[in-house]
Amino acid sequence: MKGGAHFLVGFVLLALASSFASAYDPSPLQDFCVAIKDAKDGVFVNGKFCKDSMLVTANDFSFSGLNIAGNTSNQVGSNVTLLNVDKIPGLNTLGISLARIDFAPYGVAIAALSSQNPGVITIANAVFGSNPPINPHVLTKAFQLDKNVVNYLQKQF
Ligand SMILES: *[C@@H]1O[C@H](CO)[C@@H](O)[C@H](O)[C@H]1NC(C)=O
Ligand SMILES: *[C@@H]1O[C@H](CO)[C@@H](O)[C@H](O)[C@H]1NC(C)=O
Repeated sequence: MKGGAHFLVGFVLLALASSFASAYDPSPLQDFCVAIKDAKDGVFVNGKFCKDSMLVTANDFSFSGLNIAGNTSNQVGSNVTLLNVDKIPGLNTLGISLARIDFAPYGVAIAALSSQNPGVITIANAVFGSNPPINPHVLTKAFQLDKNVVNYLQKQF
């Protein structure tokens, strides 16, 4: 009986401990860790392989072309130019990235960036342009739209 009680206490403690889980970018263990694509030249592993710090140049921390407007001739009237760790390798482990968002008049975009390699989800595409499509009945209910309007919106993608 006593063994059973100990087991139960242990089990409850483990269950409580495992509910406090969180996920985040790899923490910066050094000042910078310029990401490289090929592991054979790598030094540390911390998120992505790091470039040898003696070979790091200023270019690893810069990007040119953000002055060029994205093409906004699309359904949502906006264009997100995302600069993440793949475009600026020096962002590796820093937990940040940036974006240029161009809007046509009345264009829309929703983007949240809190990671070195965030995904950008365009809500309209994800909801009405998904493949396979979301059941129109669900969209009709969720957005309080007429079924014909949902069909029309799905045909736009
Ligand atoms: C954003 O603009 C770039 C550059 O003009 C273009 O290549 C890309 O297709 C555009 N993206 C969308 C979603 O329209
Ligand atoms: C923008 O994209 C549209 C549609 O793809 C295309 O017709 C137009 O030529 C593009 N404009 C520029 C400046 O590239």
